[in-house]
Amino acid sequence: MLMALSDRLSLVNPSEIRKLFDLAQGVEGLISLGIGEPDFDTPEHIKEYAKEALDRGMTHYGPNAGLMMLREALAWKLKEQNGIDADPRTQIMVTIGANQALLMGLATFLRDGEEVLIPGPMFVSYAPAVILAGGKPVEVPTYEENEFRLSVEDLEKHVTEKTRALIINTPNNPTGAVLTRKDLEEIGNFAVEHDLIVFSDEVYEHFVYDGARNHSIASLDGMFERTITINGFSKTFAMTGWRLGFVAAPEWIIERMTRFQMYNATCPVTFAQYAAAKALKDERSWKAVEEMRREYERRRDLVWKRLNEMGLPTLKPKGAFYIFPRVKDTGLTSKEFSELMLREAKVAVVPGSAFGSAGEGYIRISYATAYEKLEEAMDRMEKVLREEKLV
Ligand SMILES: Cc1ncc(COP(=O)(O)O)c(C=O)c1O
Repeated sequence: MLMALSDRLSLVNPSEIRKLFDLAQGVEGLISLGIGEPDFDTPEHIKEYAKEALDRGMTHYGPNAGLMMLREALAWKLKEQNGIDADPRTQIMVTIGANQALLMGLATFLRDGEEVLIPGPMFVSYAPAVILAGGKPVEVPTYEENEFRLSVEDLEKHVTEKTRALIINTPNNPTGAVLTRKDLEEIGNFAVEHDLIVFSDEVYEHFVYDGARNHSIASLDGMFERTITINGFSKTFAMTGWRLGFVAAPEWIIERMTRFQMYNATCPVTFAQYAAAKALKDERSWKAVEEMRREYERRRDLVWKRLNEMGLPTLKPKGAFYIFPRVKDTGLTSKEFSELMLREAKVAVVPGSAFGSAGEGYIRISYATAYEKLEEAMDRMEKVLREEKLV
């Protein structure tokens, strides 16, 4: 069936997270563990760079694919940190956040009805982006028993002759799962075997714990030519409101995305790009990242311990700033559980069902919130669980 973009828009509903926040509006004394953004402010020196750019008159349009100085800094970063060799002139593009890169990237190759494999639980934008680009999202469930890590066995069950691409997200939102290098090698072989394009969303790459590290699938032999690596500044440097992301991909993809951008947003914000380029090459930025990482790890340890103690079995996530406790043993659905916590504990958590069917039976807690607030939220949740005799 051929569909217009306007028809497709009616298939894309406001996310469950948005609905929960509408419900949470006006709840006095609420502690929100729902939001997926760093509570840290952008480091001071990066703000100073943006002011410097404004003073220098960087208030004009820039190139569609982003400022060359930023693409060059990104080429350096991708080589140093990710082992990816990308030409800043033809294989790197700056976007309005990682989110914009998703839709633009998918639109470069998807044809009506082609399928995209998405491991669930999944980030809320993936399926809508696939639908808007004309494709069909196919959820590939991952399991707590396998630490929510995607396996080729899971993928094999869902691949068809219509499958065109695969999205991977490590470290993962909402589970915090981190794929190992071996996982990625196996997934890479699977992509080659089925001739798939791989989207690799690595926005949480720096937030890994217990000695885990992020590996980029595009750095593996033969993978660059079929991989669209998506990343951004939102999480790394706590710059969500700056709306800056980037992509490394083969030239034909970048060329098409650039054409899309030309008639879409024109270009990312010029002075923000200058600040981001400077930030990448400034040691203070990486020191700030390490400080944030340590603080996230400290909070993760607290929340993980408290959740297990209160009777919600919870894996210790190796990355991102989310934790994904199992709530199905309480007899409530994830939505009922979240609503109960909002009403009785005044704590906002996101029902796992917001992240696809594989998320049912779990909730997502974001620990990008001050330590003391997390302690208070855990106290309140525990009290309600005991009072309601749910554990
Ligand atoms: C997995 C994942 N990808 C992409 C994004 C979007 O990031 P950006 O702010 O760069 O658009 C998010 C934000 O929550 C995310 O969790």
